[in-house]
Amino acid sequence: MSRRRQVYEGKAKVLFEGPEPGTLIQYFKDDATAFNNRKHGIITGKGVLNNRISEYFMMKLGEIGIPTHFIRRLNMREQLIREVEIIPIEVVIRNYAAGGIVKRLGLEEGQRLPRTILEYSFKSDELGDPMVAEEHITAFGWASVPEMDDIIGYSLRINDFLSGLLLGVGLKLVDFKLEFGRLWEEDDVRIVLADEISPDSCRLWDVTSGERLDKDRFRQDLGRVEEAYQEVARRLGILPEAGPRDLAGPETLQ
Ligand code: TMP
Ligand code: ASP
Repeated sequence: MSRRRQVYEGKAKVLFEGPEPGTLIQYFKDDATAFNNRKHGIITGKGVLNNRISEYFMMKLGEIGIPTHFIRRLNMREQLIREVEIIPIEVVIRNYAAGGIVKRLGLEEGQRLPRTILEYSFKSDELGDPMVAEEHITAFGWASVPEMDDIIGYSLRINDFLSGLLLGVGLKLVDFKLEFGRLWEEDDVRIVLADEISPDSCRLWDVTSGERLDKDRFRQDLGRVEEAYQEVARRLGILPEAGPRDLAGPETLQ
């Protein structure tokens, strides 16, 4: 990596100063964590695939009028994004029961939920991202009521769009996590989709076999983790042309 100024390092990504004010470079690592950082690992090629997959989803969402932080992909592991002020909330959108909601409410894994359910967590590593209600978010000023209206509206539209897109390639969008940010433009501020959308932040099940094609393979030691990420990219028609051999190369410019 060059001597650009690093702005932030997270568990799966690094942010560097971008070429112009108001831009950042988002670098995707192969590192994987789960269970609030208690489990660590490397998923070889994950960064390359998540960079592609997130680019693909963000571009498609842009085409249907969802504002996002994405500008363009720069190379195998990096994309140019707009600098936003991250809202300290993770929005989880659930269509089928899996993961946290199964544990908390004793639901049957895989059951269709009576309707799409949105949940929120306060982003705090020390506190383990506690679940909060909309009431906490607006009371503590993490987001205003009109901002929450935008966040909820966008989340539901994103869910409908991605559920259909993924169903078209034989994948069930069980649940996923989104993050939003405030984009300041002169004296205007608006909510945009930020972070990433990838098999790290989604549960994707094959519609016929129910096979897990997401980070649950890593969380639950199901094996064939790299292959699952590749399979998602392959189905979307965006597997890097040189194939899996290409995936370990860190910064190959295209
Ligand atoms: P959960 O069932 O563990 O709450 O996860 C719901 C969805 O959110 C799942 O698709 C994985 C994603 N997720 C993240 O992207 N980051 C996280 O820190 C957690 C807990 C979940
Ligand atoms: N990535 C999160 C963590 O490191 C949790 C997860 O996705 O399971 O805690």
